[in-house]
Amino acid sequence: MNVKTYLVTGGLGFIGSNFIRHILTHQSHIGIVNLDKMTYAGNPVNLKEFEGHERYRFVKGDICDRDLVDDIFSRQKPAVVVNFAAESHVDRSIEDAAGFIKTDIEGVWNLLEKSRTYGLEKFIQISTDEVYGAITEGAADENYPLKPSNPYSASKAGGDRLAFSYFVTYGMPVIVTRASNNYGPFQYPEKLIPLFITNALEDRKLPVYGDGRQRRDWLHVVDHCEAIQYIIEKGAEGETYNIAGNCEKVNLDVTEMILDILKKPKDLISYVKDRPGHDRRYSLDANKLFALGWKPGRNFEEGLRETVEWYVKNDRWWRKIKSGEFREYYKKHYSWRLEDKE
Ligand SMILES: NC(=O)c1ccc[n+]([C@@H]2O[C@H](COP(=O)([O-])OP(=O)(O)OC[C@H]3O[C@@H](n4cnc5c(N)ncnc54)[C@H](O)[C@@H]3O)[C@@H](O)[C@H]2O)c1
Repeated sequence: MNVKTYLVTGGLGFIGSNFIRHILTHQSHIGIVNLDKMTYAGNPVNLKEFEGHERYRFVKGDICDRDLVDDIFSRQKPAVVVNFAAESHVDRSIEDAAGFIKTDIEGVWNLLEKSRTYGLEKFIQISTDEVYGAITEGAADENYPLKPSNPYSASKAGGDRLAFSYFVTYGMPVIVTRASNNYGPFQYPEKLIPLFITNALEDRKLPVYGDGRQRRDWLHVVDHCEAIQYIIEKGAEGETYNIAGNCEKVNLDVTEMILDILKKPKDLISYVKDRPGHDRRYSLDANKLFALGWKPGRNFEEGLRETVEWYVKNDRWWRKIKSGEFREYYKKHYSWRLEDKE
């Protein structure tokens, strides 16, 4: 059988590792080359079960490294690039945006430049619903104006439009996807759901920003991975697709659901100063993708319960993270994330 190669970048992170697992498990005709810089968020343990797998290869490196990317293209001849690699945490972008500009814009440019000389089948740029900024009413479809409001979402908007420009200017087969908030296994415990699950398991406070009334749409990471593969197969070049979970929730309600599942008291909730520029609400209109034939399959209540169970069962995974880099970073910038037990 002819094996088609996907170059997946950022494949040791949360969504990238779930995507690689999904592809290697369900698509026997696809091989993966995973290029990941192994930042604090890139964890080789996430894909340990695939070490030595005949259709999986890992390359440690930076998407901004021209020679390395060139070498990967010459040797591996990927048919498809799926670019997950990014600095991805809003709080960190507020502290220091340099790495965000570098990876989320320059890195995308480097991949696009190399890709255009190699005749790819598809270049998938993984963008985010955050590029639309706060949505006060209704939902953003793909033509909604981009108004990113923090350095993370602004750098992602830069990469998103740069990718599109390579379709218009060079006719490259680019597709951009913009997904809503993902949740599920292997998410670094600085993001809301895994931070709150793991803090609750440690009987630490759950730091809720502002009044906790911010609203987000939640998408299970496996649904997201299925949608991306669906778009690679069926999506049209030059198009952008929103990927929504169709499940809008208030952050405080999600927090209480986590405490209920774990049978922990509500007084673990601690209201902290709001994040500057915090978008009040994100909401996606994903009818274009639904019309193409894909819809999310997972129910949030069930998905959240399974996610909580995953963190309960895999406590070595997150305890190791929380005692290492996480601890140092948050001690320096956000000591309240660690309060109570110090
Ligand atoms: N998490 C979400 O809810 C969400 C929602 C929509 C879109 N996205 C987008 O999906 C993508 C993946 O998000 P995630 O939550 O898995 O992020 P993550 O932070 O968990 O993982 C990012 C990965 O990229 C790698 N990386 C960072 N800089 C790199 C570089 N210069 N070269 C090579 N690798 C590099 C890291 O080592 C890590 O493995 C990002 O592009 C993000 O913007 C995320």
